[in-house]
Amino acid sequence: METKTPILEMKGITKRFPNVVANDHVDLELYPGEVLALLGENGAGKSSLMNVLAGLYRADEGEIFIRGKRVEINSPRDAMLLGIGMVHQNFMLVDTMTVAENIIMGMSDLPFIPDMEDVSKRIRELSKQYNLQVDPLSYIWQLSVGEQQRVEILKLIYRGAEILILDEPTAVLTPRESKELSGVIHHMTQEGKSAIFITHKMEEVITFSDWVRVLHKGRLVTVKKTRETHPQELARLMVGRDVLFRLEKKARNFGDVALELKDVRALDDKGLPALKGITLNIRSGEILGIAGVAGNGQTQLVEVLTGLRKTTGGTIRIFDEEKANKSPLEIINTGVSHIPADRIARGIAGDMSVANNLVMKCYRKPPLVKKGVLHPSRILDLAHRMIDLFRIDTPTPQTHAKFLSGGNIQKTILARELDACRGLLIAAYPSRGLDVGATEFVRNQMIAQSQAGTAILLISEDLEELVTVADKIAVLFEGRIMGIVPSSEADTEKLGMLMTGVKV
Ligand SMILES: Nc1ncnc2c1ncn2[C@@H]1O[C@H](COP(=O)(O)OP(=O)(O)O)[C@@H](O)[C@H]1O
Ligand SMILES: [Mg+2]
Repeated sequence: METKTPILEMKGITKRFPNVVANDHVDLELYPGEVLALLGENGAGKSSLMNVLAGLYRADEGEIFIRGKRVEINSPRDAMLLGIGMVHQNFMLVDTMTVAENIIMGMSDLPFIPDMEDVSKRIRELSKQYNLQVDPLSYIWQLSVGEQQRVEILKLIYRGAEILILDEPTAVLTPRESKELSGVIHHMTQEGKSAIFITHKMEEVITFSDWVRVLHKGRLVTVKKTRETHPQELARLMVGRDVLFRLEKKARNFGDVALELKDVRALDDKGLPALKGITLNIRSGEILGIAGVAGNGQTQLVEVLTGLRKTTGGTIRIFDEEKANKSPLEIINTGVSHIPADRIARGIAGDMSVANNLVMKCYRKPPLVKKGVLHPSRILDLAHRMIDLFRIDTPTPQTHAKFLSGGNIQKTILARELDACRGLLIAAYPSRGLDVGATEFVRNQMIAQSQAGTAILLISEDLEELVTVADKIAVLFEGRIMGIVPSSEADTEKLGMLMTGVKV
């Protein structure tokens, strides 16, 4: 057993948000000079737990002890005074200021006019000591993402942090920078500092950490010494203990290839590779699920398929025609429907009526148009039918879409896209935010559509949904397909391994 006493203990931490329990009585211990990995899927509650520790969120229940002493952490300042510092997923630096200015910004115990020479000197020393190369006089806007992260870490060390929390720090780094970071963390622990490292990558758990805690749906599911566990076990725990429930699906023959991607590449908004050679195909009548922790290329994959993002390589064939880098309208016209992840921003015209939103995609065609004239009564008929079928809760079909609840906006988009779909449906998280009944309805609709011959690409974080609905499941990890498994052979261990970047 561990003979050291923990520098940090969190006991029974519960953090609730209006619709979700982000942390459900979670315990955590951290020992001096050690690295604790927090492993979990998206939404498992890792960031929430650390935000409680860093003073950004107030826990609803639970206690925190530092070196055995009960503490109250009500602000980031409280946390910093206790030696706790966090590098967030999104950096919090001021672009137009220098490294040195950012590092001392907001520090309370500074003289009125700080001696920037002194500050820079100290930064250079620390930077050397911890191998965090950065010039104190550079402006933040001049720095790469990796360099900015170094500034964030230096800032915490400068302020005397003993416990460093790194929230998915390698998500933004190149492989080389990740290696350097591993060196930095090693250095820090040798100097007696401790770190909590949030990740969903197995390799990092194994190489960085002394201990690992796995969170699943807000609960702590295991605590292990890293060297006493193995990836299979962790993967299984991360994805959940239960066996995946699956529906017995009738064997079907699929038709021609509807969507074919070969070596598709694309960059993200920062210009970094987001898709690194995606190859897959979907036949008519087939549902291909995309599993993976969000942020591994899902967004960019949907965008290149729907004409919203340029590719930098490879081919996208839809119904045997090259469709990479075509406009969204051109893609819609080939018969592609899209249920976007960001439904409010991309899926709905808030100032238009529910009825018009529902028929938006078929308004150019009969029966809504007769002799070139739009038929308001036919639009209403169709809208009524769809409102009934999808149980959309709207006062009238003429109500502006923006006045509907989120779930009903979602149903409106689903109704329209499923109705308009003529061959290929790209569905991103189609049941996210829906209640149980609506979720089941959506899943059944997708299965029905596929039986009618539609090819469906279904992106989901819900493995149960993927296994139930999809015929095969491709796992995305860091912009690559780690593996494609038939749903009938998918189990939590296999999927969990692929999702954390382990080949099986
Ligand atoms: N500020 C917030 N308001 C409402 N819900 C939140 C907030 N922060 C997190 N959540 C919810 O809490 C759950 C856990 O989220 P999070 O801690 O960010 O998970 P992780 O970091 O493991 O991906 C999720 O369901 C998320 O939607
Ligand atoms: Mg997080």
